[in-house]
Amino acid sequence: MTDHGQANAVGGAEPIRLPEPSRTGTLSLEATLERRRSLRAFAPEPLSIQQIAQLAWSAQGVTEPATGYRTAPSAGGTLPVEVDLVVHGVPDLEDGVYRYLPAEHALRRRLAGDRRRAVADATLNQGFVADAPVVLALSSVAARTAATFGGFADRLIDMEVGHVGQNVSLQAVALGLGTVVVAGLREAELAAALALDEGERPIYLMPVGRAA
Ligand SMILES: Cc1cc2nc3c(=O)[nH]c(=O)nc-3n(C[C@H](O)[C@H](O)[C@H](O)COP(=O)(O)O)c2cc1C
Repeated sequence: MTDHGQANAVGGAEPIRLPEPSRTGTLSLEATLERRRSLRAFAPEPLSIQQIAQLAWSAQGVTEPATGYRTAPSAGGTLPVEVDLVVHGVPDLEDGVYRYLPAEHALRRRLAGDRRRAVADATLNQGFVADAPVVLALSSVAARTAATFGGFADRLIDMEVGHVGQNVSLQAVALGLGTVVVAGLREAELAAALALDEGERPIYLMPVGRAA
């Protein structure tokens, strides 16, 4: 039986402030677009905390503090997307599942231990997910968007997660890394593996690492 996250739940963990993201990458946007390719074979070497910070920022970093708006657009500014990072082997960061806190550019650990296998087990036979040194999980809180858009919310959220996924895909390439968007998931099982709250729905997994 798969060991799901709840046994490893971390309560009351203090936010861990991340290093400032770089705004001055050296690869042009055009070269980044040209190099983007889905990657499914990862070298085992861990990422640095700086790379983790950059990936999280590319997904949902706050770029306009007055509004809280992010690196990705958001339907009606309702900000339904949550980002979790399933982390293994990063120096100065214990293994676990971390929630990105955009306003503080920080992580809060929610689960302890290497959770990559539990997450990969909740995919439709996509075991390569467990080989990446970090896996981003993009989830949504539909109620935030439904409050404004009602029954149209699910459609909008799926579009929005696509924008976030593209940001991360391009950021990974600009860091010399690669990723793939994985939508072949067993939703309830993945929600359990990530210990998501009621009302949070996983949509994409993005394993990120250097090409094997
Ligand atoms: C909505 C969507 C869902 C996808 N789901 C998966 C998936 O579950 N597993 C996977 O390996 N690739 C997945 N992909 C990646 C595609 O297989 C990939 O983009 C396609 O083969 C083209 O290759 P490229 O990304 O290198 O251009 C998905 C792509 C999109 C846009």
